Amino acid sequence: MVERAAPEPRAASAVPSPARERAPRRVVWTFLRIPLLYKVLIANVAIVVLGAVVGTWLTATTVRASPDDFGLLTIGGFVVLGVVLSLVVNYVVLRAAFQPLHELEDVAASIRQNDYSRRAEPGIFGDPRLSSLVSTFNATLDALVRDRSELRHLASQVIRAQEQERQRVARELHDDTAQVLFAQLLQLAALKRSPVEDVARTATDFEEMTVEALESVRRLALELRPPALDDLGLFAALEGLAQRFGDQLGIPVEVHVRGPRTRLSAEVELVLYRIAQEAMTNVAKHARATRAVIDIDRAADGLSLSVRDDGRGFNESEPSKPGAPGLGLGIFGMNERAALVGGTLHIWHRSGGGTEVFVFIPIDAVNTIGGTPQ
Ligand SMILES: Nc1ncnc2c1ncn2[C@@H]1O[C@H](COP(=O)(O)OP(=O)(O)OP(=O)(O)O)[C@@H](O)[C@H]1O
Ligand SMILES: [Mg+2]
Repeated sequence: MVERAAPEPRAASAVPSPARERAPRRVVWTFLRIPLLYKVLIANVAIVVLGAVVGTWLTATTVRASPDDFGLLTIGGFVVLGVVLSLVVNYVVLRAAFQPLHELEDVAASIRQNDYSRRAEPGIFGDPRLSSLVSTFNATLDALVRDRSELRHLASQVIRAQEQERQRVARELHDDTAQVLFAQLLQLAALKRSPVEDVARTATDFEEMTVEALESVRRLALELRPPALDDLGLFAALEGLAQRFGDQLGIPVEVHVRGPRTRLSAEVELVLYRIAQEAMTNVAKHARATRAVIDIDRAADGLSLSVRDDGRGFNESEPSKPGAPGLGLGIFGMNERAALVGGTLHIWHRSGGGTEVFVFIPIDAVNTIGGTPQ
């Protein structure tokens, strides 16, 4: 075992200790970190003491040098000097201490503009309690951003799963249920020719029911996944959508396309179709409109889709009207679908003044987001 020699005690004054060197800085630092109330008190006490000492010294010196010159003007000068000094010191101390509050205000304004990237700076001269409030605010904002991105991720998974399921059910309805009903129709047609009157009548009744069932199965399959969307593209699918809603509501529903009608990426086409479908479903459910227009504009910087109606509009705070029950997820879903392809969605509405759903997808997303529709 090696024994270590005990370290030689250093001569206290030989080498200046770094701790000692830092002592004045530590005093200043400690002053800066004390709470605002004490900072203001200390600053004001310092001004009063300074005023008393310097004022007395100046008065004594002036009186001794020229006793006749000491009058109202000199006293006024001292008063002005004292007031200016007090204002400046208080302003500097309070401004530095409240800096974190200004930071919080700026960040809150950014959040109102949907910008969650800014963070407030606690500031080294800020009041410690305000600085700690800023740190807590920043941490809460970080957690909020994490939750939002998690929510967005989950929403996109739900949307994709929903699309897969819709496609599966539509295919099954079309390939399976509709085929069975069609085969049944052929058999009923044969039965209708039966010499037994009762059998022929019953077959006719069944035939009518089967035709109705086949119609609704086809309509359902079409709503779930219109084949035109995959086969002919977005523009043809939107014309079909407008036609169906126009017939259902008994109002004109127009489609205007500005720009080339060439196909877009499958995912963008699907997103735009679903947004138009939900917007038109809302027109049917809530708007009481006499006209609706679907506009598509393909410009150099991106593609926009707008669905407008001249209906009753709505007030944000207004709950869903009875008789038109819904989960209230339609607008949320439209927003999430737009975000899925890097787009943004806005809704303009005014009570009694119609509604417009507007989505814009930047050109990069229109060109690059690909993949087959799920
Ligand atoms: N075109 C419109 N005209 C009038 N009100 C509308 C229109 N679109 C939406 N609204 C109002 O906005 C509310 C929210 O719409 P949203 O699509 O999110 O939910 P919902 O249609 O009620 O339910 P869900 O879409 O889940 O079936 C509606 O309940 C309705 O009050
Ligand atoms: Mg809806």
